[in-house]
Amino acid sequence: MAPGAPPRWRRRASPVDRLALPRHTATTAHLCAVYPFTIEAGLGSRGVFLGHNRLAGGGFFFDLHEAYDAGLIQGPNMVVSGAGAHGKSALIKAYLHRAAARTPAGGRPRFTAVIDPKGEWTALADRLGWAALRLRPGGGIRVNPLDAGPGQHPAADSPTQTTRRAAVTGALLAVALGQGELSVSQQRLVTAAVRRAAARTPTPTLLDIRAVLAHPDPTLAADLDTTPGELLDRRRPLLDACVTLVDHDLRGICDGPTSIGLAWDTTPGLVLDLSALLTNRRALKLVLTAAAGWLQAVMYGQPDRHKLTVIDEGWIALDDLAIVRFLQDQWRLGRQWGAANILITHAIADLRGQVHADRAEASIAAGLLNTTSVRVFLHQNPEQIGRLLTDMGLTSTEAALLDGFPPFTALWQVGGHTALVDHVIAADEWAFADTDTAMRTSIPGNTDTSGYRER
Ligand SMILES: Nc1ncnc2c1ncn2[C@@H]1O[C@H](COP(=O)(O)OP(=O)(O)O)[C@@H](O)[C@H]1O
Ligand SMILES: [Mg+2]
Repeated sequence: MAPGAPPRWRRRASPVDRLALPRHTATTAHLCAVYPFTIEAGLGSRGVFLGHNRLAGGGFFFDLHEAYDAGLIQGPNMVVSGAGAHGKSALIKAYLHRAAARTPAGGRPRFTAVIDPKGEWTALADRLGWAALRLRPGGGIRVNPLDAGPGQHPAADSPTQTTRRAAVTGALLAVALGQGELSVSQQRLVTAAVRRAAARTPTPTLLDIRAVLAHPDPTLAADLDTTPGELLDRRRPLLDACVTLVDHDLRGICDGPTSIGLAWDTTPGLVLDLSALLTNRRALKLVLTAAAGWLQAVMYGQPDRHKLTVIDEGWIALDDLAIVRFLQDQWRLGRQWGAANILITHAIADLRGQVHADRAEASIAAGLLNTTSVRVFLHQNPEQIGRLLTDMGLTSTEAALLDGFPPFTALWQVGGHTALVDHVIAADEWAFADTDTAMRTSIPGNTDTSGYRER
């Protein structure tokens, strides 16, 4: 090992180790006899190299958009789940780095956006020439969740625009109210308020929504088939929630017009660094939701490109029913806009511990994960989650094996295909994939140029 290089991982004995035949000599015939998974030929070499395929042998290649184009999966959505420090973020960083270096099949340019609650993606942004925006109160950068998006005529109040704005406003208000979901009457009022605000100004902000709710014009009650008195009552909690958003949680971050102008036709990607909010869970959740809403506009405003949104530390979103519902809609609708999604979250066991298993959050979050076409499971603790994993289409043997996975090994489910992959990080990727620097006594040098890092 090169001097100064980080130590290799000491591996724990695992059930997988017992099955680790030398890769170049294993055959599917041998493995069929001993291995609990369905043996298959792999996904082919479509996409980028991500690691060694223990089942089919050889390399494991993958690309989310291409897997969708090829009909391997029903929706271009992916979840990466596993214990901390097991290489979840590094896997996706390496994927994006490698994907950026090649022209995808079909030649469509890509735009990638990362929501980065821990502030660890900036080095990748620098490497790939992406914009990196640090959102913090008073930081001078604002993103408006009600933006029209690039390329859209700001005055275009299309039904799509209204629906999107009403959805993100409704989600933010529901999170602020701790409600999980607005009532039908509340959501109807929010949609009407969005329309009113958009009629007053081409690109409304949450301040405009607040103004509409604070002073509903006389025709609003009639439009909502109600009396002015009932309308005032109905809007009260929504107004209070909106005021908390613009005066506190989102103040200086998402409460005004978007303050950045990127060259949307050419910018290949964007990282939204939310680490300044890490100690304020409520603000973090709200800014994450608002940022996801703004990114929707950014994504939908670029019809000619393939789009990808990555949410790291996704447990922050999965913690709140209103956000999960919002994301679920985004995932469902993304397909028609050429927009794919990757959510990276800690072990599902922890998710279940985070919210009571009987609560709606648990089942809705499980539903979101369950309907995701590409699922990558790193080390999990199946004692706590056997049923959940089985619900998610794993066999009990597969679920039990996850407990023994060493770091950087994952079970991939790509539609109906299964693969067991040892992920590899290339030497030149170490600089942006390493999140352990603070724990080391020496700074990792990029001195090993011999190729891919092995565990
Ligand atoms: N495939 C790999 N091979 C060797 N080391 C890796 C690999 N992937 C990640 N690492 C190391 O593990 C650390 C934790 O990885 P990271 O992706 O940040 O974990 P997670 O997102 O699961 O918490 C990284 O900083 C890096 O040092
Ligand atoms: Mg991580």
